[in-house]
Amino acid sequence: MKTGQPARRRARDSNGKSAAAWFLAVVLCGLLVGCSEKAPPPVVTSAGQDAIEVFLERHWTRPIAAQGAVPAGFSAQEAALDPDACGRCHVQQFSDWKTSLHAKAMGPGVLGQLIDMAPDASEEHQACIRCHAPLAEQATSLSVAIARPRAAGAQVSLHEHGLTCAACHVRQHERFGPPRRDGITLEAGNKALPHGGWKSNAAFEDSRFCAACHQFSEGDFALNGKLLENTYEEWKASRYAREGKSCQSCHMPERRHLWRGVHDEQMVKNGVTVTVAGPFRATGMLEAVLTIRNTGTGHRFPTYVTPKVIAEIYQTGMDGRVVPGTLRQHVIARLVELDLSREIADTRLAPDEETVLKYREQMDPRAAFLVYRIRVEPDAFYTELFNSLIAGGQAVRGRTMILDALANSRRAPFTFFEVRQPLRGPGPAQ
Ligand code: HEC
Ligand code: HEC
Ligand code: HEC
Ligand code: HEC
Ligand code: HEC
Repeated sequence: MKTGQPARRRARDSNGKSAAAWFLAVVLCGLLVGCSEKAPPPVVTSAGQDAIEVFLERHWTRPIAAQGAVPAGFSAQEAALDPDACGRCHVQQFSDWKTSLHAKAMGPGVLGQLIDMAPDASEEHQACIRCHAPLAEQATSLSVAIARPRAAGAQVSLHEHGLTCAACHVRQHERFGPPRRDGITLEAGNKALPHGGWKSNAAFEDSRFCAACHQFSEGDFALNGKLLENTYEEWKASRYAREGKSCQSCHMPERRHLWRGVHDEQMVKNGVTVTVAGPFRATGMLEAVLTIRNTGTGHRFPTYVTPKVIAEIYQTGMDGRVVPGTLRQHVIARLVELDLSREIADTRLAPDEETVLKYREQMDPRAAFLVYRIRVEPDAFYTELFNSLIAGGQAVRGRTMILDALANSRRAPFTFFEVRQPLRGPGPAQ
């Protein structure tokens, strides 16, 4: 396993475009330190590296090696790396994956930044695609597309599929997957099976499998002494690790390829328990309490610097509008400056931790209801970032895509908790 980090990588040229690319790379990856090829975090047993770790270190060496020559006897479908080809046989995994963010990992927010890099700046590309589209064949198709964007209506290029089946499951045209659930083993070299069979490895059922992209290593980019990406370590320190509840058990229940997270209302509801108390009235004052406890999120709620969760209590009139001056908020997030120069605040909830929003305000004569609400802005950081790329003129060829990404990020917010209590007449208020 690697412990030392290669030198920070940056765009070299000095023209405007690569200045933009440099900015992006530093802002997003920054992190570039964290983007150099590296193995998942070490878990050293007394016997040294365990078998899973050895497998993962090889499996997730980036850049991933090209698949190489197609084995004799493979049909065109078995040789193909695009997800649609796998999907013709693995129907369930394909239809799930399609709806996941892994399938959208080369959306306009990512591609819109890559397109402003030089076609042959492969190290710069790797700084992003090592997580977003890691196959060697995707790196090639990306370079081609930057040099010469595909015509409208032409076939989708491999890199546009984002984090594909093959990136997690195929090396040198050989398939790797978890042990079969029924315990039957069908080892590779079984010519009777499509793609010559497959090899099973318990690494697929292990949280360390995900750490390859969801955990920075020691020495990578950190703010205020905390790594920018620390999901695996947060999980490892939690009771879920002790109880044997892996990332997969929450994010791939029944091995479904869904990977729902902070963008999904139901997933967020499953992750926390919310309680309200009040309103209590005392001499014209209204008092209330909103408590949010991380009861089902296997890491910090939320784990990244990008989302924002906003808890609110406020009074409304009969028309449902907020009565000015009555709103109190508490933001749950790891807030950082857009250029990642500083951590502003960290109010995320570790597993089993809770936060309390206490309300004590004058009851407004216009008030008819007291409302408790919790909103999620899954892409709050990106909205700001895309805005600044447009405003600062860094998005040139990628401008249309970044505008798309900006619009998408603004559509992402949702409310997952809302309770309205009447303040007049008979009701819970005393
Ligand atoms: C022509 C049909 C076909 C195509 C195309 C195909 N597969 Fe398979 N695959 C199979 C069959 C059949 C099995 C054995 C399933 C079993 O064990 O029940 C299998 C097994 C697997 C396994 C092991 C499953 C396990 O239980 O761990 C993985 C992983 C896998 N395929 C991935 C892929 C990927 C990725 C692609 C595309 C790059 C692909 N396959 C393309 C038919 C296909
Ligand atoms: C090769 C890198 C890579 C690996 C391995 C990987 N992920 Fe991801 N994951 C990503 C990227 C990149 C995104 C963001 C995609 C986007 O929105 O552009 C993502 C997004 C997600 C999300 C959605 C987050 C949200 O904002 O809602 C979840 C959940 C997730 N991954 C869980 C997992 C789990 C669990 C595993 C292990 C089984 C895993 N990932 C393995 C790269 C990876
Ligand atoms: C270590 C893995 C990793 C690397 C390297 C990486 N990302 Fe990401 N990226 C993620 C994960 C995980 C998410 C989803 C979580 C989040 O929203 O923060 C994500 C989300 C994003 C998003 C928001 C979702 C979307 O699809 O619009 C953008 C934009 C993005 N990354 C751009 C980049 C760019 C540009 C680079 C290179 C400078 C890069 N990333 C490098 C892992 C990575
Ligand atoms: C981010 C990595 C990742 C991607 C992308 C991915 N898989 Fe998987 N896949 C896994 C993991 C991890 C497991 C094992 C989950 C577990 O054991 O809980 C798995 C399991 C499987 C299995 C065995 C299912 C079973 O029920 O036993 C098949 C087959 C499979 N994947 C095919 C695919 C296909 C086809 C695609 C694309 C449409 C795909 N995978 C995309 C990580 C991935
Ligand atoms: C006990 C269930 C559970 C476990 C275990 C778990 N997660 Fe999550 N995860 C959640 C829930 C619930 C959410 C949605 C709330 C949130 O975003 O914090 C989530 C959100 C996410 C997100 C979205 C980004 C964000 O800022 O929150 C990513 C990425 C993610 N998980 C990855 C992982 C990885 C990687 C592991 C293993 C190291 C893991 N999760 C373990 C339940 C779990």
